[in-house]
Amino acid sequence: MSKITAAITAVGKYVPDYILTNKELETLVDTNDEWITSRTGIKERRILKGEGLGTSYMAIKAAQELLEKSKIDPKEIDLVIVATATPDLLVASTAVYTATEIGATNAFAYDLQAACSSFLYGMSAAASYIESGRYKKILLIGADKMSSIIDYTDRATCIIFGDGAGAVLFEPSTNGFGLKDEYLRSDGIGREFLKMDAGGSILPASSETVKNKQHFVYQEGKTVFKFAVSNMADVSEKMLVRNNLKNDDIQWLVPHQANNRIIEATANRVGVDAARVMVNIHKYGNTTSATLPLLLADYEDQLKEGDNLIFAAFGGGFTWGAIYLTWAYNS
Ligand code: UT7
Repeated sequence: MSKITAAITAVGKYVPDYILTNKELETLVDTNDEWITSRTGIKERRILKGEGLGTSYMAIKAAQELLEKSKIDPKEIDLVIVATATPDLLVASTAVYTATEIGATNAFAYDLQAACSSFLYGMSAAASYIESGRYKKILLIGADKMSSIIDYTDRATCIIFGDGAGAVLFEPSTNGFGLKDEYLRSDGIGREFLKMDAGGSILPASSETVKNKQHFVYQEGKTVFKFAVSNMADVSEKMLVRNNLKNDDIQWLVPHQANNRIIEATANRVGVDAARVMVNIHKYGNTTSATLPLLLADYEDQLKEGDNLIFAAFGGGFTWGAIYLTWAYNS
């Protein structure tokens, strides 16, 4: 019996309407459009406004767009994974609520958290279930409301992050395409450099933690930058070497969007020119778990059956890795 391969067969996306521009950030912190653009490549990001709207609001919208486009009956979905670092609630899973709201009433569901690598790790999990033959339709959603944990008086973090959601469907491939190889890594050394101190089991919420602004993301940017540049490039190159791929065999690099300089360094190492690198950092910033599926949604109409894609991500934890996948359909 030939091996079952796990392919992405549909994509969907949602970004909130509100656009937070570099110009507006200039009114909030001591920064300027020139610095943000030259140091990160970001021009604007989307922010989810509205009382009581959490990450699931965007996850549901992205999933619904996918379902409408692909005409899939949500009752056929076996599993919903929501990759997120900003769940609606601690304890009650965002994925469970999302699955119910989209009508995936025959699915089980859970959240997966690996900071900016959450979606990449989710691809590995979803593909493994499909390859094993256990499940046939898995909805993997990457969604984050980063604005809920960002301090808009901290110029080191507030310029980078934005909100959004993207969704993909994994199914057994009918043409042998899909996930071909992966190399996923993690290292707890990173815990100190990118984190949110309070609200977890070490330091539960209190009036002190609120006063000390410990419910916001803290990042030692320079250190994270150095680790991200070298590790994303290393793992991407490994995908090529391990699979005997030449630079010209790669149609698309799909890199996490944290900083344009990290994206360029990774592209240089893989040896692909700018025309083959998916980029949307200028309009969304770093959307954490939503970044990779948002790229796929934005570039879907340029993707062709059989295209070779290299995904790469780096995030808090530290977590990082690369995935080699062949695209399974023409839009
Ligand atoms: O997705 C998860 C992983 N996250 C990442 O991969 C992010 C990695 N880090 C980065 O992208 C970059 O480190 C940042 C964009 C966060 C910062 O860029 P940088 O080039 O590393 O800047 P820096 O922190 O070394 O600061 C350089 C200068 C400093 O001024 P002095 O000391 O040279 O006078 C900062 O105070 O730029 C200053 N600065 C700013 N100036 C204007 C820092 N932030 C800002 C700002 N606007 N927003």
